[in-house]
Amino acid sequence: MTIDAFVFDAYGTLYDVQSISKVTSEEFPEHGALITQVWRLKQLEYTWLRSIMGCYRSFWEITEESLIYTLDAIGIGADKATRDRIMDKYLHLAPHADCLTALDALQGVPLAILSNGNQEILDALVTNTGLDSRLQAVISIDKAGIFKPHDKAYGLVEDALNVKPENTVFVSSNAFDACAAKNFGFQVAWIERVTPEALAAEIAAAEVVGPSTMFKLLRMQMENFDMEPDHRLASLDDLAGLIKPTQPANMNA
Ligand code: 2OP
Repeated sequence: MTIDAFVFDAYGTLYDVQSISKVTSEEFPEHGALITQVWRLKQLEYTWLRSIMGCYRSFWEITEESLIYTLDAIGIGADKATRDRIMDKYLHLAPHADCLTALDALQGVPLAILSNGNQEILDALVTNTGLDSRLQAVISIDKAGIFKPHDKAYGLVEDALNVKPENTVFVSSNAFDACAAKNFGFQVAWIERVTPEALAAEIAAAEVVGPSTMFKLLRMQMENFDMEPDHRLASLDDLAGLIKPTQPANMNA
């Protein structure tokens, strides 16, 4: 199939949302792991709930609202200065280990981000982590005023890049996002960062299933929809294999 562009989800796919645990653990040594997981779960939930209610707010606002929810629910709360220090990590998330090598290997094909992040925080993150020189576009769903997995959000790609969905590979490690992108009409590569076997082994070895394992159970396994992605890849580095190598003409002549 023709591939005219690769479009990447940001949080969880190119960027490691778990890298937030560095600051949550610094600020709250006893609750870092719990905050990290509940915050991310709640943040995604709020994007969906606000989309359904038609009450859009930027991803930055939702990220702060879900952080406040998390800290209050755990019973610790935090002043604005502490929250700001934690929130700032969203502008400096660590790229996944395979992010830069994969983007470098795909140079020559248009590459872009389509994320639930608002434009300002995406641009800051991409610049702060050196991805700006590797991407042709950073597309925020802000313009649609509704979050993924709504079709309107995925529809922004065609306008921004002038590529048809069927000729675009959408790449996500968020299973809900991969399924919705498939439903929309993209070719889809799901990055399976935690296999069912690895997760089962982790659960079997655990005395008590902790927050990180719970997150893997809820957000890092394929959804039970009839919207299977075209490709299940272990790493972003495997994307290069989707581009057929050009055959030299008259090889045997
Ligand atoms: C993103 O849009 C869904 O968080 C994910 O980057």
